[in-house]
Amino acid sequence: MGEEDPGFAGGSYVVVQKYLHDLDAWEALPVEAQERVVGRRKLSDVELADDVKPPDSHVALTTVTDADGAEREILRDNMPFGAVGTEEFGTYFIGYARTPEVTETMLARMFLGTDAATHDRIPGLLHRGHGLLFFTPAADFLEDSTRPARLAGQPEPEPEPELVNGRRNSVTPVRAPPVFKARHRASRPVATSGNQWHKEFT
Ligand code: HEM
Repeated sequence: MGEEDPGFAGGSYVVVQKYLHDLDAWEALPVEAQERVVGRRKLSDVELADDVKPPDSHVALTTVTDADGAEREILRDNMPFGAVGTEEFGTYFIGYARTPEVTETMLARMFLGTDAATHDRIPGLLHRGHGLLFFTPAADFLEDSTRPARLAGQPEPEPEPELVNGRRNSVTPVRAPPVFKARHRASRPVATSGNQWHKEFT
């Protein structure tokens, strides 16, 4: 988030999704085939040349450009997971972006395809369980307890009372809950307070 919404500058939209993989199908593929699924060389991570990289490779489908041809990027923080008992293996996809449209466009291309590709070929790419979209404010936003109220045009909350002998010297005022952006579509789960977001990620 930048100058388009200065009050929330530094924040990000985060998409979190749990995916399960068919690892047997993946391991049955020769390395060259795995490289064509991903669009990069397995050992070097070098991207395949345009004339070799299939249009349904993961890299081709997640490469999104704007009207001027500039690439739109997200910050990925994926976490692999596995449960031997239930043989459940997969990836928690975690993608941060300035606007959710970029991640959503990548997802649409992966699952609905493009003119040149039907869908992403990562084997058994099953989206299981939850998928959430959050707005995550910048750290300094959370540290300034008066900022949400100021942004919402509400009166600033009372300052914290001073500590006397390690104790509060008066009745603790109830601080107004942070007011967060309501830019999401109603059907999506949205974090409504910094504390809630904090709980989800700690
Ligand atoms: C959950 C299963 C997924 C797996 C196993 C997976 C795996 C990979 C791998 C192996 C790469 C190439 C190496 C690298 O750059 O790290 C990659 C790149 C990438 N992935 Fe995924 N990914 C998954 C889901 C997603 C989703 C859901 C999105 C977007 C909505 C996404 C977006 C991207 C992007 C933007 C790149 C960089 C492409 C480039 O190299 O230009 N991925 N992913």
